[in-house]
Amino acid sequence: MQSLTLDLESAMRDVEQLLAASCSSDEPLLTEMARRMVLAGGKRIRPRIMLLSYMACGARQALPELIEAAAGIELIHTATLVHDDIIDRGELRRGVPATQREHGPDRAIILGDFLFTQGFLLSARQDAEVVRLTGAACRKLAEGELKELQALFDADLSLERYMDIIFCKTAAPLEACGRVGAHFAGRDEWQDALGAYGKHLGLAFQVSDDLLDLRGDPARTGKPRGTDLRSGAPNAAVLLGARNGARAKMQEFLAKRVRTEEDVQAALDALARSGAAQEAQRLAEEHAARAVEALSPLPDSPAKRELLAQVRALPVRPA
Ligand code: FPP
Ligand code: MG
Repeated sequence: MQSLTLDLESAMRDVEQLLAASCSSDEPLLTEMARRMVLAGGKRIRPRIMLLSYMACGARQALPELIEAAAGIELIHTATLVHDDIIDRGELRRGVPATQREHGPDRAIILGDFLFTQGFLLSARQDAEVVRLTGAACRKLAEGELKELQALFDADLSLERYMDIIFCKTAAPLEACGRVGAHFAGRDEWQDALGAYGKHLGLAFQVSDDLLDLRGDPARTGKPRGTDLRSGAPNAAVLLGARNGARAKMQEFLAKRVRTEEDVQAALDALARSGAAQEAQRLAEEHAARAVEALSPLPDSPAKRELLAQVRALPVRPA
């Protein structure tokens, strides 16, 4: 266990160094904005999953290409968040004022473009398979963000379509991380297993986040109860509630031009009565269990146990 911690943590330090170096631009304002966002933190879940997937395939060699791809996916992720904050008019990101808030949307577009380019350049230093996997995940990210925009205020959105949106926005990049890890380890035959692990981890994470939004757990989410509902985003809990008797209430709520705090509380109460929380919990558990199951072809190892621990760290656990 200790050697895993040492390897993983020293590789993550290398990733951090490369992230900091990648913020440098000839334009001082770009460097400043990039450093503020990239170095503000973040859980670094994507590079961690990539490195652990590599190690779970039995690979131990510290490859510079792997560190580059891991930093690359984190830079691309940060780019998408900077752009998402323009679209959402997000105020806070990683505990600091969002770039669009601090510097305005025009400069935030440019920062997102810069970070995306820096990230893709790192990923593109590798072979064609890594470029293909990273590019496919980026395409899903853009498609998912647009699909979500089009689904705003739609209480009739199907759960299947919603799951496709969160697949594109969250699960597809994690799937790519698992696949890239297997590829670097020379175990392309394990790409499907580690890709499925990343995908179901992402889906379980997003649905449990939706559940926390319904239950209200600001200490964990950093957001007040019902934030998704307030912004008109129909999440898994809202859609499950709409399927279970709260449909008229959700339609009425989402159709309102002005939503008061009382409206929000009444909608949340209707969802609670519909049993949406229990169903969302079951859905999150199902994907968490599928993430665990996906790893079954891989032999036991400290890295595999750490991947399993990532599933157990979710607010909902597999049954
Ligand atoms: C956060 O969503 C946003 C994403 C995970 C993806 C955003 C994707 C784009 C803006 C497309 C751009 C694509 C590329 C490749 C540059 P959220 O609003 O649900 O989460 P939040 O609460 O963290 O804001
Ligand atoms: Mg957002």
